[in-house]
This record gives sequence, C-alpha cells and structure tokens, in this order.
Amino acid sequence: MIAGPELQSLVSEIAADMRARPDRGRVADYIPELGAVDPSYFGMAVALPDGTVAAAGDADTAFSIQSISKVFTLTLALGIAGDRLWKRVGREPSGSAFNSIVQLENEKGVPRNPFINAGAIAVTDVILSGHKPREALGEILRFMRFLSDDPSITIDKAVAESEQRTGFRNMALANYMKSFGVIENPVEFTLGVYFHHCAIAMSCRQLALAGRFLAHSGRHPGTGLSVIQAERARRINAIMLTCGHYDGSGEFAYRVGLPGKSGVGGGILAIVPGQASIAVWSPGLDAAGNSHLGRIALETFAKRSGVSIFGA
Ligand code: DON
Repeated sequence: MIAGPELQSLVSEIAADMRARPDRGRVADYIPELGAVDPSYFGMAVALPDGTVAAAGDADTAFSIQSISKVFTLTLALGIAGDRLWKRVGREPSGSAFNSIVQLENEKGVPRNPFINAGAIAVTDVILSGHKPREALGEILRFMRFLSDDPSITIDKAVAESEQRTGFRNMALANYMKSFGVIENPVEFTLGVYFHHCAIAMSCRQLALAGRFLAHSGRHPGTGLSVIQAERARRINAIMLTCGHYDGSGEFAYRVGLPGKSGVGGGILAIVPGQASIAVWSPGLDAAGNSHLGRIALETFAKRSGVSIFGA
C-alpha cells in the first residue's frame, strides 16, 4: 500500500473534496443529542502498523462512535465466551434495518448477527455476566484506551443519557430476547452498559489506531501483545464485511471492498487486512443509517490506493 507523503496527500485531497461537497446526508436525530451535531464535519485517519497515522480534516475531533463500538465488544465477548458466543447470536447478514425486530420472533430471540442492535445487546450481556454494570463498562473503556494507546478516551454521558431516555426500540428488543432466555442479566443493566459503550467518544485518529489489531492478525502492533487469536480477527473482519453496514453491507462491499463497521454518529472503521486501519467521520447518513460521505471517501481511497480485498 502507498505510504509516507503519497498516503498523506491522498488523505488530505479526499478530506478537502469531502469538505466541499453539498450532499451530506441526514444527521441521525432519533438520539436527540446526535441530532445537534454539525453535518459539515469531515475527518479521516489511516493508521499503519508502525503507529504512523496519515490524518486530515477533523481527524482529531471526538465523535460518538455508536455501533462501531460493537466491533470491540464482539472482540471482548469472544475472548470471554469463545465459540459458545455463537449460541447466543448468529453470523448471517440480516437484510433489514439495524433496529429491526421482525426476525427475532421467527428465530426464537436469537439475533442474526452481532452488529444489528439486538445482536450487540446480546453480546453486551455476555460481557456483563458476573460483573456489575460499572465494572463491565470500565472493562470496555480500558480496552479502547489500551488499543488506541490513549488514556484520554471517555464516554459522552449526555449522549448515553439521551439514548437511555429515548431508546424504546432497544428496550423492546432486549425485553423480547429476555423472554426467550437470550439475555441473562436484568435488561436495564444490559441496556445501561450498551447505551454507554455506544456513547464512547473518539476521534478518527484514535479509532484508526484502535482498529489496528484487526489488520494485523489480532496483535496490537504497538506492544506486540495478542489482543485476540489471528483466526478470530480474520472472522471478525468477515462479519464486518457481510454485516457491518446492515442492509447496506452489499453496497459497501461492492463500492469499497473492505471490511467495515458504521455507526449512526457518522463514523466508519474500515480494515485493510495486513496493511492498515482506516477511520472516517461525516455525520450525515444515508437511508440505511451509514455515513454518506464516509462511504464515498472510503470508496475513493480504496480505488486510488488499490486496496480493495477483491483486487485493484
Ligand atoms: O442502539 C442504537 O440505536 C445506537 N446506539 C447505535 C446504532 C448504530 O450506530 C447503527 N449504525 N449505523
């Protein structure tokens, strides 16, 4: 992959182009606090194995990572439960919206995959079991700080409380799963941890650094420590490719050709296996709830640097 000044100028060029575009999508407003975010932000950061980062635009402004946190909770839950996790959640694309409830009835309360809301709530429940909500949340936050080498990462309490007040669909999903025995803990505890990990605030630079273990066979390149087995890192990438953008996952694979995970805060984390971890942020979303310009920026990057996993 390109590196050095060539990489930096591509990232800067993309950020300048995206900044100037008028088509910015629509900011999520079902979480009231997110509805107040200025849609003109655009940030991008590409982290390489040696820890160098090519960044541009608002790459150092923290935003709400929302569903991107599900990649990291999945990693933690696999570390805790191993392959037993797959009894609680599937790994097939859902073909429906991230907050859909329809499949849960037919599939006896077992969510399709760990990235739709129901699946991520079930994953959070696995991390919570045997702990107090505060401890589970502390564990998730410590993990993010370790991966990014940045102790300053925090949770935006206003966003978490905003979602806690209005997250009626997630409450419905969690209660419905609880009726099938898929959720072990009191639903208000599981949801409390879920809303708070979704409200972790990070910049593109921090997020790109945090994703490096997925590009490097499960190892934290800074310390060489193993975060997760290589086989599991590979499989998380596979689930990101097939399910990371909900009903827009096919389109993302077609246009970008990289494993990716979006969040309704407008961020996307994309992985170039063996080479780089990329984070983009533009708050306006498309109809499937994925960052509109974030996807276009990644499509441009993949094309110009030739990094799609499907070929140049
Ligand atoms: O549960 C929710 O609805 C949010 N906390 C996260 C959803 C999300 O980010 C969907 N991604 N595009």
